[in-house]
Amino acid sequence: MNLTFPERGLIGIIGESGSGKSTFIKLLLRLYEGEVGKIYVQDRELQSIALNQLRQAISYVPQDVDLFNGTIRENIMAYGTNMSEAEMIHICERLNMHQRIMSLPEQYNSMISERINLSGGEKQRLGIARALAKKSLIYVFDEPTSSLDQENSQFIKEIIEDLSKKYLVIVIEHRLETFENADHIYQFQNGKLVDIDELEVTRDNA
Ligand SMILES: Nc1ncnc2c1ncn2[C@@H]1O[C@H](COP(=O)(O)OP(=O)(O)OP(=O)(O)O)[C@@H](O)[C@H]1O
Ligand SMILES: [Mg+2]
Repeated sequence: MNLTFPERGLIGIIGESGSGKSTFIKLLLRLYEGEVGKIYVQDRELQSIALNQLRQAISYVPQDVDLFNGTIRENIMAYGTNMSEAEMIHICERLNMHQRIMSLPEQYNSMISERINLSGGEKQRLGIARALAKKSLIYVFDEPTSSLDQENSQFIKEIIEDLSKKYLVIVIEHRLETFENADHIYQFQNGKLVDIDELEVTRDNA
């Protein structure tokens, strides 16, 4: 496959289960090293960029968000973010999580543990909050709405669209609604790109 991403904008990736979407993203993040092929960031080969620099530049929400034993606040700030209380609350409000967190006995200081019983969708939104709390140049979301209902998916869609005005946002999704305003949609099939002309939508006619 051969693809080029712009400096900012929304890129959608679709394709059936097992078609290689997550693998592709992991190559971009150098969680896997490719055996063939090359990836460039501007004119630099991906391999020549220091891993910490690369990871600093990319915020990634994996398909299975992994929260650790710590407070909600620590989980949101997991990427070493140093943001104000107000900024953190603003992010959680946009994700429709603030009220839920405030309903917990110790609010943002509540420990993530079995006692808290967060739902899959709540964990997913905390994972997204963590990625948003990290200031990056590229945001990558692997099926960010897989555990969310329609209403919460809509909030994510709005956040993604806003982010894509300033940054490059790459989103893997099954539902095409997320991509109404995508600059380009790529469809994967068996590890290859397939023709998606009929899916292409542009900001101009959105
Ligand atoms: N670490 C790995 N080692 C070997 N094979 C792998 C590895 N990770 C994924 N695969 C295989 O590579 C193929 C693509 O997997 P990938 O996770 O990229 O699919 P996907 O498009 O993200 O699917 P889904 O929509 O289910 O998340 C699958 O057949 C999978 O079993
Ligand atoms: Mg996947």
